[in-house]
Amino acid sequence: MKGMLFTELFELIKKKFGENLLDDVIDDSKLANDGAYTAIGSYEFDELVRILVSLSKHTNIQIPDLLELYGEYLFDKLIKILPQFNTSTDILDFIEKVETHIHVEVRKLYPTAELPSFDIIYKDDSTLEFFYVSSRKLHYLAKGLLLGASKYFNEPISIDMNEDNERVLFKIKRI
Ligand code: HEM
Repeated sequence: MKGMLFTELFELIKKKFGENLLDDVIDDSKLANDGAYTAIGSYEFDELVRILVSLSKHTNIQIPDLLELYGEYLFDKLIKILPQFNTSTDILDFIEKVETHIHVEVRKLYPTAELPSFDIIYKDDSTLEFFYVSSRKLHYLAKGLLLGASKYFNEPISIDMNEDNERVLFKIKRI
């Protein structure tokens, strides 16, 4: 995983739960480099999992809820770090382009990026349906990112998620 995912998660933990809790989470997670990440480095996905498990233990918040919170926070950061990747003004158009444009550009910039795929199966003026496919099973992070995008575009949406073996069906509707 890209280092920026770790550095931004630490920022969020510090802001929301305080520096002491962040120190405890880092200690408990037994990280290879004691939690010293650089935004441009790449690190094991397993370290992110350990941080989330420890954060969940310290805050009593379930991991899916933590991932959603984190995704919503992360969206604004990603769009600020890489603003040139956004070519949309409409939320459904934007979501469709995450697969066809944004993550494609991310991969050019960071060839080792670990990205999900979104297989779009239906789209009309008010609805978008796609399968989230990723071995990392970060669909609650995806949900948080979608909520962050909805706020960013000021376009409210409903998000319906259905797990289907190795994939998750997302149904997005304008509301
Ligand atoms: C609603 C919009 C978006 C969704 C739903 C989304 C979804 C995701 C998810 C779920 C991951 C984690 C990897 C996985 O699941 O396998 C990811 C990784 C990532 N995404 Fe997106 N994304 C969105 C928008 C963006 C934008 C706007 C950018 C940049 C401008 C971006 C850049 C990245 C980067 C850099 C990673 C990390 C890759 C790595 O750590 O190796 N994403 N995205």
